[in-house]
Amino acid sequence: MKGSFISFEGIDGCGKSTQIDLLAKYFTTQNKNFVKTEEPGGTLGSNEIRKILLRENNFQWSVETETLLFMAARNDHVEKVIKPAIEDNKIVICDRFMDSTIVYQGMRSPQARKLGLMLFEQIGINPDITFLIDMDPEVALNRALNRANNEDRFENYGINFQYQLRKNFLNIAHQHSERIKIIDGNRSKENVAAQIIESINNIDL
Ligand SMILES: Nc1ncnc2c1ncn2[C@@H]1O[C@H](COP(=O)(O)OP(=O)(O)OP(=O)(O)O)[C@@H](O)[C@H]1O
Ligand SMILES: [Mg+2]
Repeated sequence: MKGSFISFEGIDGCGKSTQIDLLAKYFTTQNKNFVKTEEPGGTLGSNEIRKILLRENNFQWSVETETLLFMAARNDHVEKVIKPAIEDNKIVICDRFMDSTIVYQGMRSPQARKLGLMLFEQIGINPDITFLIDMDPEVALNRALNRANNEDRFENYGINFQYQLRKNFLNIAHQHSERIKIIDGNRSKENVAAQIIESINNIDL
């Protein structure tokens, strides 16, 4: 017996947090032992790195340096939270993981992508299943703008950037079709949750 590891990916506002909460509720009804966590973050140290990363780029870091910081945060998270929980037979549900680094940083620099992948090989943990919530960036934009704690990310980067992100997430999903399950995020919250639960039940976690 060992636990398992589920990650959620997708463009800003696609419904990751919403679906993670719904999946956590479902696992509770099934008496499954789970841990909910997120990246960048999940540990005290990683949260400090997250704060620095989300601050305006006062430090003028290159995308490669930014990638190294994301990887440091990830390593701390894997060592202290993800691996121990899996060894304790729990299901880990993680909001964003390595695919986000490949998309957000890798999209801007092939060298950052290479650096990330090289370090990830040493971290040595892949999710058992990744849900890519795929959806129309225009709809995601409207949802995110209507959200109370809107963090202005769409305004900062623009809709074209979200289209690029979507395309890159889909490319990765096609490259790793054994791990990444594409979920249609344009439907209702309940419908999206049903798609996810069906996949989970198919792999029998
Ligand atoms: N299927 C859906 N239909 C309609 N509204 C939705 C749906 N899923 C989520 N929402 C709403 O859209 C907004 C964004 O959802 P959510 O915060 O879950 O996205 P997210 O992927 O976690 O975003 P972020 O990348 O910014 O963390 C929320 O206000 C949420 O209630
Ligand atoms: Mg979220």
